[in-house]
Amino acid sequence: MSTPEQEFIPQMRPLFGAEEKAELLSYLDEDGFFTEFKKTELFERQIAEFTGAKHCIVVNNGTVSLTLAALALGLGPGDEVIVPNYTMIATPNSVKMLGAVPVFVDVEPETLVLDLKQTRAAITPRTKAIMLVSANGRAPACGIAAFEALSRETGVPLIEDAAQSLGSCYADGRHIGRAGVLGSFSFSAPKIISTGQGGALITDDDDLAAKLRRLKDFGRAAGGTDVHDSVGYNFKFTELQACVGVAQMRKLPERVRRKKEIWRRYQEGLAGLPQIQLFAHDLSLCTPWFIDCKVERRDELVPYLKSRGIGTRTMYPPIHSQKAYGLSGSYPVAEEVGARGLWLPSMIQLSDPQIARICAEIARFFA
Ligand SMILES: Cc1ncc(COP(=O)(O)O)c(C=O)c1O
Repeated sequence: MSTPEQEFIPQMRPLFGAEEKAELLSYLDEDGFFTEFKKTELFERQIAEFTGAKHCIVVNNGTVSLTLAALALGLGPGDEVIVPNYTMIATPNSVKMLGAVPVFVDVEPETLVLDLKQTRAAITPRTKAIMLVSANGRAPACGIAAFEALSRETGVPLIEDAAQSLGSCYADGRHIGRAGVLGSFSFSAPKIISTGQGGALITDDDDLAAKLRRLKDFGRAAGGTDVHDSVGYNFKFTELQACVGVAQMRKLPERVRRKKEIWRRYQEGLAGLPQIQLFAHDLSLCTPWFIDCKVERRDELVPYLKSRGIGTRTMYPPIHSQKAYGLSGSYPVAEEVGARGLWLPSMIQLSDPQIARICAEIARFFA
């Protein structure tokens, strides 16, 4: 039997428990249709209340939610969408699916959020949206108001890809995702709460919310009818996912607290090591979803930690140079993160002794 000292610590693992099980079992006793209905509505209300948004519309994942946002804003083939070059590849792919053209822009070195000046420079008459990704729950260092002003001035709408930001706010107290015309979240397995797969859009705009509901339900004018005033698709949720989501949402405030505590403990544990720098977080606003850092000798540290039973994950490479896009160009910040960025174990169930063990192993490696 392995001792706790030897147990493998994965970089991330979702956590479900008795509460999710109880919700699922009680739903199974209801003889429901499984497809989205009352539990899904409850899950949507919980997200709307938590974020302060007027409307929440859940869909099957956090990529489709971005595609749906772009569709609702009328984007189509040839339209340009500004996206950060440091993000999960789902951000550009979500609009590529519509034949739109992702235009990659470098990110701020301290937050890894879109660089405002370079975003402005990338706007052309064909630009139809800016996808602002709040990397790991961080707001742009220049302030979200600067992006809102750019959007007003140019007439280019902001779509917020807040997939990594549930539990994080802007300096003015608004939840991230509320500054754009639409904010998008993901509930994939590694997120702060998960439904296995799942996504959500939030907005305060009644018409846009109604449009999104039609778009995700075959363009139906009303639920349960076969009258279609517009073309729509099937991006619906299921009650089984919603059962899990409802239980996870109840745990969210405690998870927000613990995620901040985990980050604080890493910060203390790694403070004396100049070879590793955590990306900074203002914990009064931001909930670090993953522990992200830049390290020296990453390619040696990763296998060393693995040999010591510690999982890590290298941060996203710059997207322009991935085979999927194969573009040239210079993006110094995204390239540096691609070469030196590392996610340390970040799961919610990480214990304090495990964090101490990870920090000690990193210190041993650099000693
Ligand atoms: C920034 C960002 N956007 C979009 C997505 C896609 O979400 P999903 O996996 O739910 O499709 C992710 C998922 O990790 C993400 O981190």
